[in-house]
Amino acid sequence: MLPSKLGTTGTVAVKLAGIQNPSGSPSRMTRVLTGITTSGTPHLGNYVGAVRPAIAASHAPGVESFYFLADLHSLVKVQDAARVQRSTLEIAATWLAAGLQPDKVWFYRQSDIPEISELNWFLTCVAGKGVLNRAHAYKASVDRNRADGEDDDSGISAGLFMYPVLMSADILLFNANKVPVGRDQVQHIEMARDFAQRFNHLFGGEYFVLPEAAIEDNVATLPGLDGRKMSKSYDNTIPLFAPHAEMKKLIASIVTDSRAPGEAKQVEGSHVFQLYQAFASAEETAQMQVAFAEGIGWGDAKQKLFERIDAEVAPMRDHYEALMAKPAEIEAILRDGAQRLRTKYATPFMAELRHAVGLRDLSSAPAAEAEAASKAALPVFKQYRDTDNRFYFKLLDGEGKLLVQSNGFDSPKDAGQLIGVLKRSERADAMETPGINVLVPVDEVLAALLQLRNAEA
Ligand code: TRP
Repeated sequence: MLPSKLGTTGTVAVKLAGIQNPSGSPSRMTRVLTGITTSGTPHLGNYVGAVRPAIAASHAPGVESFYFLADLHSLVKVQDAARVQRSTLEIAATWLAAGLQPDKVWFYRQSDIPEISELNWFLTCVAGKGVLNRAHAYKASVDRNRADGEDDDSGISAGLFMYPVLMSADILLFNANKVPVGRDQVQHIEMARDFAQRFNHLFGGEYFVLPEAAIEDNVATLPGLDGRKMSKSYDNTIPLFAPHAEMKKLIASIVTDSRAPGEAKQVEGSHVFQLYQAFASAEETAQMQVAFAEGIGWGDAKQKLFERIDAEVAPMRDHYEALMAKPAEIEAILRDGAQRLRTKYATPFMAELRHAVGLRDLSSAPAAEAEAASKAALPVFKQYRDTDNRFYFKLLDGEGKLLVQSNGFDSPKDAGQLIGVLKRSERADAMETPGINVLVPVDEVLAALLQLRNAEA
């Protein structure tokens, strides 16, 4: 592909940019990419909201799926090394236990692809600071500081500020078309589009495909123990692979209203019901709805919820535990995925991008040559001395066609002076000078002179 051509055919490589990933090509599969920040233990909300739908989607025809552990992102929030390592292992084991097939999809760890960090810098240099100032996550931190009477940027790392750029690098390096995300991440995808467009524009090629957010509206957002969205930041989660006793205890602690057994209960607004629905078939859900109307006790409802979750989780749990017992196997799977992905996409594409921005092999296709090539497209005045020893000039267009031929002059200075006059000419009557012969329609000459002036401006 392209990299072999780089270095010897500078301008050609630039023109070919993007052909590696022609978004419009019918033969190219749609690339769907998702990152999972490695900052905690996977919980039921992650499973229902991200893992399960993503694995289902990876079976769709015509899709090339990319799943990665966003461990570089985790450093923005977590400065506990052991926790980053444990979370990376747990999340990788979760995805594998849930049925992700590492030979069918790309499954890798962000920090194993150094090209992501390199692209992060390229994008940092095109990203508008003003755009980043408007990022919701950063603004929310500033607002909190203001509310607390602190300095605006108190406690905010540059990593938090730059988070959207790193995320753009994740997405753009693989020219992902679709990025399934929650609503809170949509702004990040818009920024990725913005940075991609700026880069394409600045470096004159369709290097990056513009990604689109795929908002998962029909995917359930699970309530946590307290009824707010299940999230590690609210500390209200049920770990996906919690041991039985712990899972039971946590489910028992889900907030409910105080209706007694025998009293009819509402399914609307019931967290127990919502959780049940996320795991049950339509039929089971309908049955539970009847049970609610008939006054099932909360203890019984929670027992049924526990059993339903366990029925789905139990087979995965065995797999999960087997994987957790062999971390070296997970390590090998991740490294293998990253290695193949680098060879196939990251390394060649990064070589193309390095070339695009001017990080080039100095011995190949020197910049001057490329410049000469671009100037060749412009009209040119050529001065020369002929066999009669007199001084002449001619005007050629970009393709080398002769537009104007001068008569002979006694000195190169005389010839040069007339060239100067012609260069400034904007009107047809200026072409009536005795020293020259116009060989094409005058308009063509005027157009060529205008082109020259524009290029020299
Ligand atoms: N920011 C995402 C989150 O917090 C994780 C993430 C990092 C990501 N890089 C990404 C998601 C690229 C999609 C694409 O959920």
